[in-house]
Amino acid sequence: MFIEIRNEVAQFIISGLKAMGIDDSVVSKNQIAGLLEIPKKLDHGHLAYPVFQLAKVLRKSPPQISQELVQHLLSQKLDWMEAVVPVGGYVNFSIKSVYMQNVLQKAICESNESLGHSQVGRGKTFVIDYSSPNVAKPMHIGHLRATVIGQAIRNLAETQGYKVIGLNHLGDWGVQFGKLAWAFMEWGHEYDFEGKPFESLFAIYVRFHDESEKDPELDAKGSLVFKRLEEGDEKVTELWKKFVEISMKEYGRLWNLMGVKHDLVLGESFYNDKMKPVEKALEEKGLLVESEGAMVVPLGEEMPPCLIRKSDGASLYATRDLASAIYRKEVLGADMNIYVVGVDQTLHFRQVFKVLELMGYEWAKSCHHIAFGMYRFKDLGRMSSRKGNVIFLEDVVKQAIEMVKKTIEEKNPDLKEKDLIAEQVGVGAVIFNDLSFDRIKNVDFDWEKVLSFEGDSGPYVQYCHVRCVSLLNKYIEKHGSKPKREFLTSLESDEERLLVRTLLEYQDILKASFDTFRPNILAQYLLDVCGAFSRFYNKHRILGESSEIETSRMMLVECTREILFRGLSTLNIQAPMAM
Ligand code: ARG
Repeated sequence: MFIEIRNEVAQFIISGLKAMGIDDSVVSKNQIAGLLEIPKKLDHGHLAYPVFQLAKVLRKSPPQISQELVQHLLSQKLDWMEAVVPVGGYVNFSIKSVYMQNVLQKAICESNESLGHSQVGRGKTFVIDYSSPNVAKPMHIGHLRATVIGQAIRNLAETQGYKVIGLNHLGDWGVQFGKLAWAFMEWGHEYDFEGKPFESLFAIYVRFHDESEKDPELDAKGSLVFKRLEEGDEKVTELWKKFVEISMKEYGRLWNLMGVKHDLVLGESFYNDKMKPVEKALEEKGLLVESEGAMVVPLGEEMPPCLIRKSDGASLYATRDLASAIYRKEVLGADMNIYVVGVDQTLHFRQVFKVLELMGYEWAKSCHHIAFGMYRFKDLGRMSSRKGNVIFLEDVVKQAIEMVKKTIEEKNPDLKEKDLIAEQVGVGAVIFNDLSFDRIKNVDFDWEKVLSFEGDSGPYVQYCHVRCVSLLNKYIEKHGSKPKREFLTSLESDEERLLVRTLLEYQDILKASFDTFRPNILAQYLLDVCGAFSRFYNKHRILGESSEIETSRMMLVECTREILFRGLSTLNIQAPMAM
């Protein structure tokens, strides 16, 4: 939304620069629009133009240039302009409230779902791999990040006009399936696979690893069964299918609850018949060498070699990722290929991307590992699903929902659709908490923080949205309809100006959040909107003012509501109408 204003200001600057003898071969309108900064302080205006790059061309100091530019600009006052002031090497522009309000209103009225969107990605395909759990293992708190950061980036890519393909690179292949099948054949009858399929599957998984610590023979037995699976043995394949099905059902429940959607499930097994051609290509290019019976691609001093095939002939995680990257490019048409995976797999992706580059694939550059930091635990030590000391994602989500239910019972027992709202708020709390951390930093897991609904939390933003909704409802009760979608008067107080200006940043925020793959930028922004709204709401009466002011302030409430709603939904968080 700010784009219109940016362009308008940029155009204005161009005219001033022309008068100073600088034409658009030196700086173009688009460049200027991109250079315009949003000053932190309200009294520094709405946009600031840094003139430093002109110092060389004009052979003058930046403060001189900004003063001169302002003189030229002031000679041709425009109706949207409130003030143009030189401050050091900057020219600060203040824009009239009424103009800002109009841009905001137009954006809100005209765009609906595409509010603040851009078309920079038009015609390009954005493939993104997220959540991607490993069959037989419950998703734990670590998968929370892979899931919610991934889904948010996916949504952000859609706001930028990309065609998005969300992939589940399900961990459904590898020697652990031999182990699982062996364990099932040996102990399966002791467990309730009919009644509690997933719990049973996980139980035999944990048991296998416990027992294999005492009896190292077991691993070899598991490997043999995996060999049979790789050779297509019917019975083992049958079991493998069963394990995948049981697991997908389980994950599906949680994804559903969290509103997570993939377009395609292309698990690791999908690449079984696509790895031989990769190996062949590596061989033909002279990249593959033998090392202690295994086949590897040496990667020089920079990193350890990339393991392609084990000495027993089994394929590897990296081999499947090579085949998968090629598939994403050649079949899915990926212009960008994104992996939302923990920072602990950084080396793996560096190796895979390097091998692609050595294979001569120019597009290796378009593959990005979007790493995220790990959860750390005070009491647990390192989490390990094999050892069973993990925090399961489902437990976190369920506890959050229970807490919300309790709070609703205490504070608002007559609320309609309590269960649904508790779900939306509980899930929202968990998602928002995770997204509010800088993606790349490690996070100390803190039950209290996850389940806190005060302060900077998802429920706080949801609650602000609800406040807007109920104000709107009161207005409708009084007038019989929503406020006419226009500002009837210019809103001039500091609080109103700050809120309008904050709301107008939405488009810039979506872009910045996408460009850096940092959903926390959007999360923080929504908190800022709530802060600006609270100040406005606490200071000014809305209902009961003269009709023009009442309607205009109500319009501002409506704009706030719309942006909170769209922003939350981009983060994959629902916005209840009451709570
Ligand atoms: N299944 C893996 C894990 O849970 C993540 C897969 C990520 N995607 C990929 N293409 N390697 O660690």
